[in-house]
Amino acid sequence: MIKEWLEKIEASSSLEVLENIRIEILGKKGVLTAQFAKMKDVPNEQKKAFAQNLNEQKTKVHEALENKKTLLMAIALNEQLKAEHIDVTKFNSTAKTAAFHPVLDTMDKITTYFQNLNFSVEEGPLVEDDFHNFEALNLPKYHPARDMQDTFYCKDGAVLRTHTSPVQIRTMMSVKPPIRMIAPGNVFRKDFDITHTPMFNQIEGLVVDAEDKISFANLKHVMVEFLQHMFGDVEVRFRPSFFPFTEPSAEVDISCIFCEGKGCRVCSHTGWLEVLGCGIVDENVFKAVGYKDVSGYAFGLGIERFAMLIHKIGDLRSLFDSDIRLLGQFR
Ligand code: PHE
Repeated sequence: MIKEWLEKIEASSSLEVLENIRIEILGKKGVLTAQFAKMKDVPNEQKKAFAQNLNEQKTKVHEALENKKTLLMAIALNEQLKAEHIDVTKFNSTAKTAAFHPVLDTMDKITTYFQNLNFSVEEGPLVEDDFHNFEALNLPKYHPARDMQDTFYCKDGAVLRTHTSPVQIRTMMSVKPPIRMIAPGNVFRKDFDITHTPMFNQIEGLVVDAEDKISFANLKHVMVEFLQHMFGDVEVRFRPSFFPFTEPSAEVDISCIFCEGKGCRVCSHTGWLEVLGCGIVDENVFKAVGYKDVSGYAFGLGIERFAMLIHKIGDLRSLFDSDIRLLGQFR
C-alpha cells in the first residue's frame, strides 16, 4: 500500500491534486487514518509493532507530501514569474509618440534656417507701447495706415502688439549695427474668419549694416533662397506694395503649390500665393532709433499661413482647436 501511495504522490501534477491525495490518505476518513482505528482489535503483544509500523508509514507519506508540495510551489512560482515577465527592452510599436504642433514646428524650421545664416533670435513684450508698435515705425498718431492693423487697445494707451516689427525698434535701440536678427512670436489683431484669428504668430527679420552694404538685391536674394528652402522648387514674385516702415516695399508671392501656377480655388485662380511682406527700412525708422549712415532691409511673415500651406490645412482656425485627430497627423 505505502509504495502505491508514494508513487501517487510523486505523480501528482498540481497542488490541488496533491491536496486531494493527502485527504484520501491522512484525512479524517483517510485510508491510513482508518488503519489507526483498527488498533483496538490488535492483540496487546502486537500493538506496539502495529503502531510503530503505522507511524512510520504516516511519517513517510507526510514527508513525501511536503517534498512534493515544495516542488510544485516552486514550479507554480516560476510559471507565474514567466507569465508576468516584462521585457523592458522590447520596442512597443503601438505606443503613441508626441509631436510638435504644426505652428511650433514651422516656427522652428524658419528660425533654424535664419540661425544658420547667422541671424540672432530676439524677443519683445506682447503688451507694447504706442512708440514701439507704431510711432517709431513711421506710423504717427492719426496716420491712416494705422487702420491697416485692427488694434486691441489696453486702458493706459498700451496695445497688444499688432506685429513683431516693434522688436526691430527694441533691438536697434539696445545694440549697435551691424544687425542680423529675427523675432518670432505672438501678435494680436481684432479679426476672426477662416483666414484670420485674433492671435497668430509672425516672424520678423531685420538686417542693418553700412549704407553701401545693403541693397534691395540682397533682400531679394535672401527671400528667394528662403522661400525655395521652405516650399521647394517654386517661382517667387515681388509686387510693389506699401508699409509705413519700409520704402520701397514689396509683397512676395510664390507660384501656387497646389496647382503649380495653373490656377485653383486656393490661389483664387491667380496661380500665386502671397506669403510675406518686406522692403528697405524707411529713413524715418532709423531716425527714430538714432541710427545714421546705415541701410537695412526688413521682412515679416505669418507662421500659421506657412504651416497651412506646408501641411495643406484649409481652415486656419483648426490650428487652434486642439483637435487630437488633426494633431495626430503630424506625428
Ligand atoms: N509688419 C508687417 C505686417 O505685420 C510685415 C512687415 C514686416 C512688412 C517687415 C515689411 C517689413 O504686416
